[in-house]
Amino acid sequence: MFCPLPTAHCPLPTATMTVTVRLDPERPSVEAIKRAAAIIRGGGLVAFPTETVYGLGADATDEKAVRRVFEAKERPADNPLIVHVNSSEMLARVAERVSERAVQLIDSFWPGPLTLVLVRKPEVAQSVSAGLATVAVRMPQNRIALELIEQSDTPIAAPSANLSGRPSPTTAEHVAHDLGGRIEMILDGGPTIVGIESTVLDMTSDPPVILRPGWITEQSLAAVIGPVSCSITEKQLERSPGTRHRHYSPRARVVLIESGSPDFIQSFCAGQLKGGRVAFLGHTPLGIDSTDFEAIILENSARAYARSIYAALRELDEKSPRVIVVEAIGERGEGAAVMDRLRRAAVQRIRE
Ligand code: TXA
Ligand code: MG
Repeated sequence: MFCPLPTAHCPLPTATMTVTVRLDPERPSVEAIKRAAAIIRGGGLVAFPTETVYGLGADATDEKAVRRVFEAKERPADNPLIVHVNSSEMLARVAERVSERAVQLIDSFWPGPLTLVLVRKPEVAQSVSAGLATVAVRMPQNRIALELIEQSDTPIAAPSANLSGRPSPTTAEHVAHDLGGRIEMILDGGPTIVGIESTVLDMTSDPPVILRPGWITEQSLAAVIGPVSCSITEKQLERSPGTRHRHYSPRARVVLIESGSPDFIQSFCAGQLKGGRVAFLGHTPLGIDSTDFEAIILENSARAYARSIYAALRELDEKSPRVIVVEAIGERGEGAAVMDRLRRAAVQRIRE
């Protein structure tokens, strides 16, 4: 029986030796990747870098291997996985009826951080799609990921390689922290470039709907195929369960300051200090001098935030603060995807 969460009848996954292999992201050793591919083909789990975040890979055609992904991550079984391919031929193995508009998007953005939801072919294991008739597919822009798919010669199902609900991993160390002892191998290609997950676009709706904002913006998509929708209906929410679950959260409470002057943020953090340790992640340097206060200051840009927010949330969480106060950035362009992640991580959102 498959249980998404550990119970008395279905304990945590049994201990597995996790081997980490360091690779040059520009010229990865083909020998090492062949070893990883042998694990994938044998039904095992390999974490690998993509341009967005690290993924936890399994053979997308192997039902048992895919179920192990859910177990290792403690992921609810109703949240489907993204299938990673490295060619149009491989795309044709997993998806039916790739429309003209989908082809235009593929020509413009693949390899890259755009996931297309298409009609699923039977070769894809059922649990990849959590029982849906669709499959989410993307071609990552990362040599290690592409070579792993090539050597495995099979589409690779891979969610972000974190424990379910935690911040996504942007380094191999993050993966080892969450999944060490549960998976066979981690391919370490250094920190990821983009830092937040791909845009998920449902191509089975007309107009296509952005189910999850990401580095490829609504404007960039519209420039290629015309209008896309950003408003998810109840029905689509049902079909993209991932958007329902709480996400990206460290252990500490995250409070998001949606808007506020430096003075407001400063006095808010100072007030929070009365209750215990406080961490701050933002772009405004604060003049707070206390051993109970930790801060990570980022450049005020979507690129800088995207690249660093998950690592920063993890790093601050290690200091065991009671609360992590996060300062918002502008919502324009790629900022929308960053703000989506910060809102999902937050338990409270405030404005001055
Ligand atoms: O950048 C990324 O997308 C990373 C890297 C590893 O590729 N992957 C990733 O996977 O973020 P994951 O599992 O953390 O998020 C997958 C998202 C979820 O929100 C899920 O609900 C949605 O994609 N999804 C997957 N299959 C779907 C489907 N058939 N229909 C609708 N939504 C789907
Ligand atoms: Mg995820």
